[in-house]
Amino acid sequence: MINYQPLLTPLTLTNGAVIPNRLAMAPTSVTDAAPDGSITSANLLFFEARSQVAGLLIAGAATVTERGKAFESQMSVAQDQHIVGLRQLAETMKQDGSKAVLQIYHAGCQAAASHAIYGEVVAPSQRSFQGLRYEPRELSDEEILTIIRQFGEATERAIEAGFDGVEIHGANNFLIHQFFSAYSNLREDKWGGSLEKRMAFPLAVVKEVKKVAVKEKSDFIVGYRLVPEEIIVDGTGYSFEESLALIDVLANQQLDYIHLSIFSGYKSHAANSPVPYGQAVKALVGERAAVMIVSQVTTAEEALDGLKFGDIVALGRSSMIEPAFAAKIEKGQSESIWTEITAESAPNLALPHDLVELFTSGAVSLRLPGQEYLQK
Ligand SMILES: Cc1cc2nc3c(=O)[nH]c(=O)nc-3n(C[C@H](O)[C@H](O)[C@H](O)COP(=O)(O)O)c2cc1C
Repeated sequence: MINYQPLLTPLTLTNGAVIPNRLAMAPTSVTDAAPDGSITSANLLFFEARSQVAGLLIAGAATVTERGKAFESQMSVAQDQHIVGLRQLAETMKQDGSKAVLQIYHAGCQAAASHAIYGEVVAPSQRSFQGLRYEPRELSDEEILTIIRQFGEATERAIEAGFDGVEIHGANNFLIHQFFSAYSNLREDKWGGSLEKRMAFPLAVVKEVKKVAVKEKSDFIVGYRLVPEEIIVDGTGYSFEESLALIDVLANQQLDYIHLSIFSGYKSHAANSPVPYGQAVKALVGERAAVMIVSQVTTAEEALDGLKFGDIVALGRSSMIEPAFAAKIEKGQSESIWTEITAESAPNLALPHDLVELFTSGAVSLRLPGQEYLQK
């Protein structure tokens, strides 16, 4: 009989919030928000179905400005009018005692939905990107300061809406990631150039968010998500060593957790090291913050094993497939955790039809290594 108690043990985060177990629902932008970014019944039903999937639930990326939207159906936390819907979302997420966190972001050069409206997008530097039909415009110093303030305002709204925390989205090639990457950041002012200067924007956003959190709610959870390394064919991007340097600085900012964004499995390691990302980051961060690991955790056994790689194990696609992941472990029913979508389970998942089709078509497999299986 496997003892799953380590997964079910509560965790007190850096600033005092207690999460009821070691499982998190990874941020996943799955259901459509309204065209103005307001919360819809689809967003609520998606979380209604998943209020027991994990002890910490992270709602997928919400934009901090109308000019930062990657997808048309993206949630927004950019204006006060969004608070009413976000309050319903937070209540739904918390209804069974889990903590509710909102991921906040700006898509930078990837803000294709904003491009369709405003005819331009902004980024650290003007340069062409493979797969983008337009070139972004370089941000001015004043605009950079405005976006930093917008992350703070988004945090204020998340607090007013009743969220327990925010996750700063510094991953997946969006604006904060773009500032840290030597590929997308070609600036020579205080926001780019050396490794230290490429850290300036991520750090400024963290400081602004923390300033609001500390003032408004002392145990408000602040997490930071990043991709451990960006390997670009031309040798730019950023290395895992550079990430570790950023993480070291971030871990001194009283953050509650550092979340590694990985697609290739929770045991993944850097191209030039056999040490798994999660273990290397935990060794560096120590007790300064919790480390959250993710990817290809499909069973209770894998979730338990995940605790060797981080303090909290996040579920991405598994949270879509099995809405009762944590609840089943708690009830001693870990053997009955669903690992695929079936005709029987599909109607209870509150997932959009096209996503169910994608998951059941064989095009997506949780067990394939690498990134190529994510056909979103
Ligand atoms: C449909 C879909 C939507 C996603 N949306 C987001 C998002 O809004 N923010 C984010 O940081 N990651 C997003 N991700 C990435 C997941 O959080 C997670 O890192 C990834 O799916 C790997 O974990 P898994 O192997 O458990 O699925 C998304 C993934 C999927 C499949």
